[in-house]
Amino acid sequence: MPELDDQIAVVTGAGSGIGQGIALVLAQRGADIVVSDIDIAAAEAVADEVRSFGKNALAVQSDVTDRESTDALASTVITDLGRIDILVNNAGVGGAPGWWQRSSPSPEDWEATYDVNVIGIVNTTSSFQDHLSERRSGRIINIASGAGRRGTGGFAHYSASKAAAINVSQGFALKLAEFNINVNCICPGLLWTPLWEKIAERDRIKSGETVLTGRQVFDQRLETSTPLGREQTPEDVGKLAAFLASDRSKNITGQSINLNGGSYMN
Ligand SMILES: NC(=O)c1ccc[n+]([C@@H]2O[C@H](COP(=O)([O-])OP(=O)(O)OC[C@H]3O[C@@H](n4cnc5c(N)ncnc54)[C@H](O)[C@@H]3O)[C@@H](O)[C@H]2O)c1
Repeated sequence: MPELDDQIAVVTGAGSGIGQGIALVLAQRGADIVVSDIDIAAAEAVADEVRSFGKNALAVQSDVTDRESTDALASTVITDLGRIDILVNNAGVGGAPGWWQRSSPSPEDWEATYDVNVIGIVNTTSSFQDHLSERRSGRIINIASGAGRRGTGGFAHYSASKAAAINVSQGFALKLAEFNINVNCICPGLLWTPLWEKIAERDRIKSGETVLTGRQVFDQRLETSTPLGREQTPEDVGKLAAFLASDRSKNITGQSINLNGGSYMN
C-alpha cells in the first residue's frame, strides 16, 4: 500500500520498540526514513531493516533533550535529503538511568521524564518547524501514552510527562495549523518493548515478586486491564502513525488517539 510514496519521515527513538515499528511500517507504506536515536548502533540496525524494504534510510544520532543536537539533526537531514514531510516524536523514557530499580521516583526521574518526554518533543518540533512552515505542509505525530490520560500512583512522574506531551501537542497543533501542519498524538496502552520489560522489573522489585517472570507480570496486567485481551504492538502504532501521516487524516489535528484495546475510553 504505497500511500506514503515519495514522503520523507523522521522518527526519533527509532532504534527500539515502538519507534522501530513506526519506522518499518512507514517504510512499507512507501516513505524514506530518517532513523534517529541517541543510540546510533541501534539506529543503524533499524536503518538496515528499512533498506531491506527498498527504501532509503539515514541513521542519525540525536539526543532530543539537547536543542543543539536536534538542530544538528534537522540540518543534516535537510542538507542530505532536501526536505522532510513527517516528524514522529517517539523517543521516551521511564526515568533517569536505573529508574526501574527504585521503588519510588527520585527527583532525577521527574526531571528525566520531563526532559525526554516533553522537552524532547518541543526541541525536535522547534528544530523542524521553520522548514515545515515554509513548505506549508507537514504531519507531526507525538507518541504520548495512556498514562497521560489519568494519574498513576507509583508512576506519577511518567504520567505527568505524558499528560504534558498531550497538552503541548495541542499547543503546536494550534500554532502550526495556519501552515497546513497537522499535529496529533497517539496514546498507546501495553506493548512488550524494552521499556515495559523495565516496568515489569520495577513492579517485581516493588511487590517482592519472585515467582512470576517480567513477561508474566505484563500478561497479568493485560488480562486485568484490556477488554480486547490483546497486547498492542509496535506495528499497530506504526499503522496508526501511517494513517495520521497520510492524506486520509488531513482534517484531523490536535487529537490524542487511544490505542489500548479498550482499557479506558475517552
Ligand atoms: N511500551 C509501552 O507499553 C508504551 C506505552 C505507551 C507509550 N509508550 C511510549 O512509546 C515511546 C517508545 O517507547 P518504547 O516502549 O518503544 O521504549 P524503548 O525503550 O524500547 O525505546 C525508546 C527509544 O528511545 C531512545 N531514547 C531514549 N532517550 C533518548 C533521547 N534523549 N534522545 C533520543 N532517543 C532517546 C532509546 O535509545 C530507545 O531506542 C515512548 O515515548 C514511550 O513512553 C510506550
